[in-house]
Amino acid sequence: MEKTLVLIKPGGVQRNLIGEITARIERRGLKVVGLKLIHADRETVEAHYDEHRERPFFGGVVSYLTSGPIVALAIEGENAIKAIRAMMGATNPIDANPGTVRGDFALSIEDNLTHSSSDPEAAERELGLWFPTGTF
Ligand code: PPS
Repeated sequence: MEKTLVLIKPGGVQRNLIGEITARIERRGLKVVGLKLIHADRETVEAHYDEHRERPFFGGVVSYLTSGPIVALAIEGENAIKAIRAMMGATNPIDANPGTVRGDFALSIEDNLTHSSSDPEAAERELGLWFPTGTF
């Protein structure tokens, strides 16, 4: 069993895609073990994207993630990390296959609707950041 983090970004919440995205995750057989709607603070978002601090889009992505409510989901299941990444599609929606969340609902990397942990180390770190009490 693996656990992973999914964030539904402000554009996804704004476009009423919380149910659609969560339903796809559940239909796949993965379990929602933590869920919260929050307006994230800058500090948490900066820590989340810390490894990208020097990249040109860092300021933009932090501003975007703090621009409105987001949904943080803790997801559990067999091969959850890889399964979720595949379901979300390529990071840049223009490269995402139809049938994936981004391939079906997104067009630009600035608003690619979701974040999901890339590997087990990232999942552990990110779950600790967004669900700091450790209880989902
Ligand atoms: S990945 O999947 O982690 O390998 O993708 P990577 O290309 O390294 O990008 C890491 C995160 O930065 C976001 N990103 C951008 N945001 C806004 N504008 C631009 N131009 C941009 N380029 C990359 C990308 O969406 C990844 O964040 P998440 O939240 O995981 O989608």
